[in-house]
Amino acid sequence: MVLKGLDKHVDLQSSSAKRMIGKVAVVTGGARGIGAATAKLFAENGAYVVIGDILDESGTAVAESIGARYIHCDVSKESDVESAIQLAITWKGKLDILFSNAGIGGTTSSITNLDMEQVKHLISINLLGNVHAIKHAARAMLRCDTKGSIICTSLPDM
Ligand SMILES: NC(=O)c1ccc[n+]([C@@H]2O[C@H](COP(=O)([O-])OP(=O)(O)OC[C@H]3O[C@@H](n4cnc5c(N)ncnc54)[C@H](O)[C@@H]3O)[C@@H](O)[C@H]2O)c1
Repeated sequence: MVLKGLDKHVDLQSSSAKRMIGKVAVVTGGARGIGAATAKLFAENGAYVVIGDILDESGTAVAESIGARYIHCDVSKESDVESAIQLAITWKGKLDILFSNAGIGGTTSSITNLDMEQVKHLISINLLGNVHAIKHAARAMLRCDTKGSIICTSLPDM
């Protein structure tokens, strides 16, 4: 009796802990830092994860360690982002979650000395990267009729 009760307790705990069973997620910038930690947590909770990054070696290693898929994806390039979303659809037939997290740090120089090429580069990743990801994730979610979640962490700050 006690054991049965204990088993039930354990089962309940594990089912409530795995809150993302069967969910399909794309994590940009998932090769390290917040993105890698999030991809790991998603996978631990039962999600299928696609990691998109430009750091192919660490991205592949993270993906392999959690049973995820890796794809080279420079978020400043719309076609790369579209391919990452498409990988999730081809792999699991739907998209439930986009974690748009790829980003780079801003410049520390004064406004009076801003290097505009650096600013454009930053905007192409931290701002346009999010726009590319939201556009293609929303398209996929509508097409697959999933009521998905889109989370963005990168900041378009200078
Ligand atoms: N750490 C913080 O305190 C903090 C605070 C607010 C927002 N953020 C944002 O959260 C995100 C993650 O932060 P972090 O501390 O883990 O940073 P991080 O530098 O450790 O990781 C960023 C990841 O994004 C990837 N990346 C960079 N450019 C890319 C591109 N063009 N295409 C695809 N991937 C690219 C990197 O390769 C890396 O894997 C960043 O966008 C950052 O701006 C971080």
